[in-house]
Amino acid sequence: MSPRREPAAALREALQERHVIVVCGAGGVGKTTTAAALGVQAAMLGRRVLVCTIDPSRRLATSLGLTRLSDKPRALTLARVAPDAAGEMSAMMLDTKSTFDALVHRYAKDEAARDRILQNRFYKHVSAALHGSHEYMAMEKLLELTLDERFDLVVLDTPPTLHALDFLEAPDRLMSFLDASVLRFFLRPYFAAGRVTLRIATRTGALALKLADRLLGLQFLQDLSEFFLAFESMYDGFKERAAKVHALLRDPSSGFVLVTAPNAATLDEARYFHERLTEKQMPFVALIVNRLHPDPAQEPDPGGPLPTLPAGLDAKLIAVHRDMQALARAEAKTLIRLEVDTGEPPLLVPELETDIHDLRGLREAGDLILGARTLPRRRVRRAAGARA
Ligand SMILES: Nc1ncnc2c1ncn2[C@@H]1O[C@H](COP(=O)(O)OP(=O)(O)O)[C@@H](O)[C@H]1O
Ligand SMILES: [Mg+2]
Repeated sequence: MSPRREPAAALREALQERHVIVVCGAGGVGKTTTAAALGVQAAMLGRRVLVCTIDPSRRLATSLGLTRLSDKPRALTLARVAPDAAGEMSAMMLDTKSTFDALVHRYAKDEAARDRILQNRFYKHVSAALHGSHEYMAMEKLLELTLDERFDLVVLDTPPTLHALDFLEAPDRLMSFLDASVLRFFLRPYFAAGRVTLRIATRTGALALKLADRLLGLQFLQDLSEFFLAFESMYDGFKERAAKVHALLRDPSSGFVLVTAPNAATLDEARYFHERLTEKQMPFVALIVNRLHPDPAQEPDPGGPLPTLPAGLDAKLIAVHRDMQALARAEAKTLIRLEVDTGEPPLLVPELETDIHDLRGLREAGDLILGARTLPRRRVRRAAGARA
């Protein structure tokens, strides 16, 4: 077996060669930051990269030249933070609603059908709130962006879902929602005639409809039924797109970067996520543990004479030092388990002293990621040996 490539080198290579990088992980771990930081690095490596963000903080969005409504790629100037970047970077924000509308435009069979859908009250809700639609739209947009000739790499940030995996299953979930047997089955014969009538082919259908009418109101049902009717012509288009998204995600020119924080809950999610990616044969690129607490004992000695501290403060400082050390060691221990379980050496990215909200911060964060250290091999091997 050839020796395993160093993980930071593997990530750098992916930024140089692949066409799609999907940054995924639980909410709040630093996905958006990582996606943007990797974008800067890719531009420095000569790529024409587009970073598609989902929910940048207001300050980060401003630094990326994105206002609330900018769902079109905007070119950024990296001259100040990466003067010799050979490539280019653009950024955009995903807008779920307009992506869905664009799909309707693409697949509606004619103008009348299109307008019926876009004006449908149910559609207005569903396009914004359908469970999984946010995730689905991210995937949908990805497909469109990879065909854009202006970019040779798309870095996709993923939505802050409770279950980080939702977006992988989103295309399937959307399809099965649209196929939603019960409502569609009962409502179709009812409204296909184009009239509001309670005469239905089956008794069960009639009953279900009466019940639904009582619960939901007839206007709602009419909207819903119209929605499904109009959507029917688009099923094939949607199915085809969903299949293409799956193929794209599995392609060796794509890659997943999994980000996690060093706390138990998100680590469990990362472990699960890694399992599912492997099971779905998605190409894995790197595991990043972000916001790690550094071990003060391993920090470089600042040198120089020690200042004289007011009475009592030195004892407090020692206590803080000890706490930090204990935290860092506990984190290292859980991370060793993570590596043994996943077989992926995590890239360890420290917690920075300030938030990352501008291009300079992104440049520095990216340098930290590509220069990140991994856990001591010796300890991982020992832990793996003890497990076996
Ligand atoms: N290594 C880090 N050190 C310090 N702050 C960080 C680090 N990584 C991310 N942050 C901050 O954490 C917050 C959440 O990051 P974000 O990328 O928006 O997370 P997510 O997209 O996963 O929800 C942001 O304010 C960001 O600046
Ligand atoms: Mg985010």
